[in-house]
Amino acid sequence: MLTRREWIRQAASVTAAVAMPEFLIGRGLARTPANNAQAITGAGSLKTHAAARGLLTGCAVNAALFRDDERFRQLLAEQYNIVVPENCLKWNILRPTVDTYDFADADSVVEFAEAHGMKVRGHNFVWHEALPSWFAATINKDNAEKFLVDHIHTVGGRYKGKIHSWDVVNEAIWIPDGRTDGLRSSSPWFQFLGPGYIDLAFRTARGADPSALLTYNDYGIEYDNDEEGKKRTAVLALLRRMKADKVPLDALGIQSHIRAVSKDGFNRGVQELLDGAKALGLQVFVTELDVNDDAVATEDMSERDTIVAEVYRSYLTAALAGPEVKAVLTWGTSDKNTWLNNGTKFRKQHPDRLQRPLPFDPDYAPPPAFFAMRESFDQAKKR
Ligand code: G3I
Repeated sequence: MLTRREWIRQAASVTAAVAMPEFLIGRGLARTPANNAQAITGAGSLKTHAAARGLLTGCAVNAALFRDDERFRQLLAEQYNIVVPENCLKWNILRPTVDTYDFADADSVVEFAEAHGMKVRGHNFVWHEALPSWFAATINKDNAEKFLVDHIHTVGGRYKGKIHSWDVVNEAIWIPDGRTDGLRSSSPWFQFLGPGYIDLAFRTARGADPSALLTYNDYGIEYDNDEEGKKRTAVLALLRRMKADKVPLDALGIQSHIRAVSKDGFNRGVQELLDGAKALGLQVFVTELDVNDDAVATEDMSERDTIVAEVYRSYLTAALAGPEVKAVLTWGTSDKNTWLNNGTKFRKQHPDRLQRPLPFDPDYAPPPAFFAMRESFDQAKKR
């Protein structure tokens, strides 16, 4: 005999399963359409399972797919409660010429998110990459501060009050540059303004959009090895120094571009990041999660997908162990669009095979990684 609550829950799941669009039905699902456990929209969506634990979940939004693919937009609305434009808030896209801005793509993503009750992350104000072609010939030591401040005022001001969190500075630590503080001295921003560009950017961002959570975002800090350990230590030292100097800083973004095959684990590394952030009173966001599967030997796709899913599961188990992580975003949603398939740079071992690093396959069906994400949310404590 079902209790009333169980009956309501089951009825809701069946409705969701029946209402599920064809393209969202996974391979297993097609065989068992009324299998409640497999319903992936509504009560079965990533966002519903995440929200039950006080978590946000989202993905990076590719502007071309967003513009052209109705199924992609539908998936965003069904699965996520936060999105981040993948590229269209970067300088090279926003600033086609020295004195013009092109907000068209960013505006449409922000409007879509508002219309669907989703939050938006801003990525990013300051990065050494994705700079416009005019940058090198135009920006110098004399005008860099004005360009940086004007940019943050203009872009941050345009979306004031609409952004959950801004990646104010992205990837400022780079150990190979040889500084004791680990700062990336090869960044043009460092070269023009010295180490002070970081504090300047955060202070300016707070003024431009006081309600956005100001985030420092970096990669290659997750694994338990010497190289990433050094970078992790430098990132945490930077954040500690910023807090000591009363720089407005609210969150650490752990990009989380991880690998399906690795001799190193990440439990200790992730825990160090969580502990470090907690000690400074910072929130933590998993900002760019994906699982590079190039080194997986088997050619059997379902075995590959299972291996990727298990890495999702173990990584999220580590990341969600404590209450610090408040949002989990993947870098893209469908394998149809992933930076890991841009050229063959990230497919060196299997250049003839496309990577499958995300929670939806190229046809928008959910591989095991989707279910691993969802179950990891279920296992997490409420935050
Ligand atoms: O859209 C053009 C296409 O028209 C053109 O034919 C093609 C030729 O190169 O380029 C396409 O643009 C590419 C764009 O991605 C769209 O896929 C750019 O060349 C390429 O540089 C750009 O790469 C982006 C990269 O950041 C640099 O901005 C990736 O999409 C994006 O996923 C990646 O994201 C970064 C995060 O911002 C920071 N963390 C690491 C992450 C992965 O590298």
